[in-house]
Amino acid sequence: MRVKRERPGPLRWLRHLLDELLVRILSLSLFRVKSKPPAASFSGLDSSSVTKYVPIPRVKGLPVVGTLLDLIAAGGATHLHKYIDARHRQYGPIFRERLGGTQDAVFVSSANLMRGVFQHEGQYPQHPLPDAWTLYNQQHACQRGLFFMEGAEWLHNRRILNRLLLNGNLNWMDVHIESCTRRMVEQWRSRTAEVAAILPEEGGEIRSYELPLLEQQLYRWSIEVLCCIMFGTSILTCPKIQSALDHFTQIVHKVFEHSSRLMTFPPRLAQMLRLPIWRDFEANVDEVLREGAAIIDYCIGVQQDQKQPHEDALFQRLQAAEVPGEMIKRIFVDLVIAAGDTTAFSSQWALFALSQEPLLQKRLAREQSTHDSRLLHGLIKESLRLYPVAPFIGRYLPQDAQLGGHFIEKDTMVLLSLYTAGRDPAHFEQPNRVLPERWCIGQSEQVHQSHGSLPFAIGQRSCIGRRVALKQLHSLLGRCVSQFEMRCLNEQPVDSVLRMVTVPDQTLRLALRPRTE
Ligand code: HEM
Repeated sequence: MRVKRERPGPLRWLRHLLDELLVRILSLSLFRVKSKPPAASFSGLDSSSVTKYVPIPRVKGLPVVGTLLDLIAAGGATHLHKYIDARHRQYGPIFRERLGGTQDAVFVSSANLMRGVFQHEGQYPQHPLPDAWTLYNQQHACQRGLFFMEGAEWLHNRRILNRLLLNGNLNWMDVHIESCTRRMVEQWRSRTAEVAAILPEEGGEIRSYELPLLEQQLYRWSIEVLCCIMFGTSILTCPKIQSALDHFTQIVHKVFEHSSRLMTFPPRLAQMLRLPIWRDFEANVDEVLREGAAIIDYCIGVQQDQKQPHEDALFQRLQAAEVPGEMIKRIFVDLVIAAGDTTAFSSQWALFALSQEPLLQKRLAREQSTHDSRLLHGLIKESLRLYPVAPFIGRYLPQDAQLGGHFIEKDTMVLLSLYTAGRDPAHFEQPNRVLPERWCIGQSEQVHQSHGSLPFAIGQRSCIGRRVALKQLHSLLGRCVSQFEMRCLNEQPVDSVLRMVTVPDQTLRLALRPRTE
């Protein structure tokens, strides 16, 4: 079944508008979310110190609802990245806006301002967390992994994981990534060969194999990779693990769906009223945390029973770093949740970008046969630049800061508009084109500001899975370009919508044929 993700007609749009407004007003008056202290206002500051700064343009809004009506008119929360992109075009690389709620956010999109934010993020950088998750953790007194940690606890665990997942030689994980990717692509190859062997279509064309359930397959793959990095590839031969991973993939995928539904409905209100949207989310997260912990327990049990020496894997490394068992569970489950949708959708976007460029596919296939990877590396950078799955990165500034001649008060939420920055002609020549060679040495005229693309963020709290994800993308795309010619079968232009991460607005239909040259 093909699912059209978001194209409301005028009546549905009106109903959507009324729903969102009603819900927002109710939630503001009844259940104000106390996440961060409100930012100090300009009126509280010494006026002489403020006047020497360049004022930040402010988008005017209404009392209580702020500029929420404008956002709804632009398509609602699922179109936030496009809405903010239009605002940047109107107001420039920095502006303030209150999209409802009690606090302004400052949006920045220039490479220099974005870099400045990371310079001011402090010792324990704080990022905004999805309300639904924060509420769940509070309600269930649930202690979570790295993404949710704060202060000294975060720094301690982050330093350990930096050593194990980001710094130095990570070749030990190649064997795990390669074997999972080989298995998935091998299935695609044999199905593609079977379909191609059937008599050609009218007109003599070789038949193509349309990849079924691409999103689910890529989810399964990214979770399997993490499991193998954690416990070694041999863990997959255990009788129970395949079905446990199938089930785990389904429920992690559902978490993503439930959380994105709660992006357009205030979680606190849903929780107070015990609405199905909250109950489903809650039950689903319970199950993911329980099953994740059960998989770990099972794998630990298997390893203890094994006679032969263990493979080189993260679990042994965490134990050697004296991370307690309970903490390993917390870290592992949240690594899986963080990796699932980001890697699955970044891979989908990269395959989509490739499917639009048959000549580039051919060039990449040729490059692979010479064991060079510069162009492939550039392609991955291009798809992450054009389709950053996290289109906003947020930081609460721990101190008053001066950013590009502007004054930003302590505790302000600053949001980096990655979607806009990656498509800004001030950062990239012909920004809307996929030009992998722009990242090759000697092509610097094509990249004016490389920091215009920060898909994994930078600084202390940047993505801990960056190198894992890049290795995965590299392995998947390298194999695909060598073996297949890829085509996109979608009849309507594919665009991005925001559902926790940016995803295609329709089910992506990719067709494969054996590569013949
Ligand atoms: C292409 C795939 C990926 C993208 C684009 C991506 C992007 C990001 C970004 C932008 C952040 C920073 C969020 C912030 O600063 O607030 C982040 C954080 C994080 N990512 Fe990724 N990510 C990807 C894959 C992964 C993978 C494979 C893992 C697990 C191995 C992972 C685990 C995490 C964790 C745990 C954090 C929180 C780090 C912390 O708070 O210290 N990510 N990711």
